[in-house]
Amino acid sequence: MEERALLTRRELIRRFGTGAFLFFASSLAIPRSVIAQETQTRQEPDVIIRLRAVERRIPLLEGPHTVTWSYEGELLRGPRESLIPLEGSYLGPTIHVWRGQRVRIIYTNQIPEHSIIHWHGLLVPEEMDGHPRYAVPEGGSYTYEFEVKNRAGTYWYHPHPHGRTGVQVYAGLAGLYIVHDPEEARSILPTVPYDVPIVIQDRSFDELNQLVYLSTMMEQMIGFLGDRILVNGRLDHFLSVDPKPYRLRVLNGSNSRIYKLAWDTGTPITAIGTDGGLLEKAVHLPYVVLSPGERIDLWIDFGDFMEDKVKLLSLPFSIGASGMMGEMSGRDMMRAEPRRPGSPLLQGSSFPVMSFFIRPGKKAAHAPPGHLSSFRRYSLSDAINSRTPRRFIFAMQGMRPTINGRQFELTGVTPEETVQLNTTELWEFVNAGGMGMMGMMQQPHPVHVHGIQFQIVDRQVHNRALSGWESLNEGFVDQGFKDTVLLLPGTALRVAMRFGDYPGLFLYHCHNLEHEDLGMMRNYRIKS
Ligand code: C2O
Ligand code: CU
Ligand code: CU
Repeated sequence: MEERALLTRRELIRRFGTGAFLFFASSLAIPRSVIAQETQTRQEPDVIIRLRAVERRIPLLEGPHTVTWSYEGELLRGPRESLIPLEGSYLGPTIHVWRGQRVRIIYTNQIPEHSIIHWHGLLVPEEMDGHPRYAVPEGGSYTYEFEVKNRAGTYWYHPHPHGRTGVQVYAGLAGLYIVHDPEEARSILPTVPYDVPIVIQDRSFDELNQLVYLSTMMEQMIGFLGDRILVNGRLDHFLSVDPKPYRLRVLNGSNSRIYKLAWDTGTPITAIGTDGGLLEKAVHLPYVVLSPGERIDLWIDFGDFMEDKVKLLSLPFSIGASGMMGEMSGRDMMRAEPRRPGSPLLQGSSFPVMSFFIRPGKKAAHAPPGHLSSFRRYSLSDAINSRTPRRFIFAMQGMRPTINGRQFELTGVTPEETVQLNTTELWEFVNAGGMGMMGMMQQPHPVHVHGIQFQIVDRQVHNRALSGWESLNEGFVDQGFKDTVLLLPGTALRVAMRFGDYPGLFLYHCHNLEHEDLGMMRNYRIKS
């Protein structure tokens, strides 16, 4: 038993590296367990959850089990529905909470490297946000406690140690965090079991069924692209459904792959929610584009199909030089011999994501939902800097991805990255591409901001051909609250955001996890 565990651990270290070299461990005096001062005097939490990051062996493919790193959860207090495991999956349990609830999460790190959990999209105090400066070593723990302030919606959690986020998410560390609120509860939207999570990820496996992460610098510059598509941690995923309306909560939990989702029947996609919760009203599109970190809530009535089986597809698209990169991806250029049989699945390839088998049954006509939610849309005049937006230029400088020419510094922050609590600002993200071989530096960057939810004001296209605009622009859902937005090469976009919750040091970064790990991440400070 002991021997086996050691072997597992050695294998993992061989596969994923120890990562220890990336931490300036000595210079960081991090308390092993932190509870914010202000929370200690408040009321007792409504929900208490224990989450552990552990090694697991999971039967994923025929043959040997796959070694993963996974979150295991235990509900210590609160309603049973607060913690729902995704059976048989390497993904962590889904956390369900209500707006206004007080939540305590006791995290213990049992993987052989530093880690910390970040609640992607949640509005929490800075020391509860899982900033890399709070990463704890193996055996360490960190206690989170916060009030749920977000609108009802689909959020998620994943590790955020600097330099190792990509590999840790890849190894299996991720889970959904769903917030409910009274406004949504009053709506006529489908509820469990007609409300289902769909977490899409790509992976690659070796002959022994073990996860293979990237190995060359070139691969890291582009971002990891796997050749197998998994949904909710399963290959060739399918779901048997009733001929009724469903709510599908889709998360792109991939490191760098972008999906262009559509029904194989040509039925329009109906989107009802984005990163930060429900839209004002449903939108109907030929397809939706979902980049890493983004969520989209879809509504679909399986009773509307004549077929008894429908597929969710990812359609082909071409961004920048990715088409050209096709025949000579970094993998092929850098390696004489392919690592494994099978062709790589390039960015923009088309493939099925999952299948739905529709059970026979009584069908009734269900109109797609109309009004969904009420919120105020920011106008330009709300922003204190509407004439001079704060500009952030995302670029590849040689082998270094940068934001305004800078890379991540653990606690570094500049005056240009300092904002005032209780103000609304206009931020502009610019994809400046970069110089390099065959334009391979022209890459999409899914831009993510911690600590707030923003609204998209507009997108500008400076280079149509490069941006892949024609093949993607009908699939953006820009009407709701967002925390992650796809910034195509040759484009810029403006977002409005209000710093209305907590002061402190928060992150903004590219959610291509390889770019993030390479330093395309910065702090910004909200001054009180
Ligand atoms: Cu999804 Cu900074 O993270
Ligand atoms: Cu985040
Ligand atoms: Cu990027």
